[in-house]
Amino acid sequence: MRIRPTVAAVDLDALRHNLGVARGLVGPDCAVLAAVKGDAYGHGAVRCALALSSAPEPQERVDWFGVALVEEGAQLRAAGISTPILCLGGVGRFGADEVVHLRLVPVLYDEGDAERLDAAARAAGVRQRVHLKVDTGMGRLGVPLPHWGRFLDRLARFGNLDVEGFMTHFATADAPVDSADGHFVLEQARRYAEALKTLRARGYAPRLRHTCNSGGLVQYPTFHMDMVRPGLLLYGVAPSPETPRLRPVLSVSTQVLVVRDLPARASVSYNRSFVTHRASRIATLPVGYADGYPRVLGGRAQVLIAGRRCPVVGVVCMDLCMVDVTDVPDWVEAGDEAMLLGAQGDARIGVEELAAWAETIPYEILCGFSERVPRV
Ligand SMILES: Cc1ncc(COP(=O)(O)O)c(C=O)c1O
Repeated sequence: MRIRPTVAAVDLDALRHNLGVARGLVGPDCAVLAAVKGDAYGHGAVRCALALSSAPEPQERVDWFGVALVEEGAQLRAAGISTPILCLGGVGRFGADEVVHLRLVPVLYDEGDAERLDAAARAAGVRQRVHLKVDTGMGRLGVPLPHWGRFLDRLARFGNLDVEGFMTHFATADAPVDSADGHFVLEQARRYAEALKTLRARGYAPRLRHTCNSGGLVQYPTFHMDMVRPGLLLYGVAPSPETPRLRPVLSVSTQVLVVRDLPARASVSYNRSFVTHRASRIATLPVGYADGYPRVLGGRAQVLIAGRRCPVVGVVCMDLCMVDVTDVPDWVEAGDEAMLLGAQGDARIGVEELAAWAETIPYEILCGFSERVPRV
């Protein structure tokens, strides 16, 4: 039974629509991997993955899923999902047996991982697919370019691994194309091409070459190659202004808990962080930073009530926040819907707007809604 009214609604039709947009941009010969790491950017990995893998027409289904952790891949397999799964974070020191057993495909950038995977595959009597990763400028995961040749020399020792894919990750693919950061994408692509040449010279012929996240997918068609790896775009957030129309997937709402009439000069929230400057109607909402609604939104964000934008006043508390509804012409009362993210009537609060108020990026807002907020 659900008692508290705070919920995150996930529009799976919108998710499928956005996959269609991605497909339309890449054409039929390019595979699409849906990034569903981080619990599908906070949307619920299992239900999103089921929605993206179960469409009746094959072209409406996604080709791969991308997770960060082996555990996230295991969660999808436990839900009965048989689509190929790429573990973007690699296998780690303890993941090799699980990867082999669950038919996951890890990104490989570390000799120790290669050794453990090779041993696990040999023990299981199978061959293990891997996608090699080169670091061309993200400075995070991937074999550093200067070590690439030596890494490949060592890789040749592991006879149970099949190099199915070859990838890198762009650091600035959502920047304007004609900017210094945009030019850095071209430099990363040049370094990737150089590493691919070395790989081929060693006799490898990876079937899936891939570099593009959402920004790359929209802005750099020449780098789509065999597969693209969108995340954000699928959840309805445009990585650049040229993105075709996407549908937002997540909305978060609650209901007004109480409304109080306060006189002028009354204080609201911790540290008296808001003081009324007129007689005010203040609605208390049962949502706070323990739900992933950032504390910093107090004094900055707006919430939709009765189709009107109402300011959040005072700092957001752990479980509650306060909204000034003085200017709402309708009589606001307990039980009225309050929309924190999403549309109400003709009004909408987008995740980009919420992120700007919180001085962060849409990714962090989406991933931040906590388990306490049921996904429906
Ligand atoms: C390796 C890799 N590929 C693809 C993605 C998806 O990126 P985006 O959500 O920007 O499309 C990510 C996300 O960070 C990633 O780490």
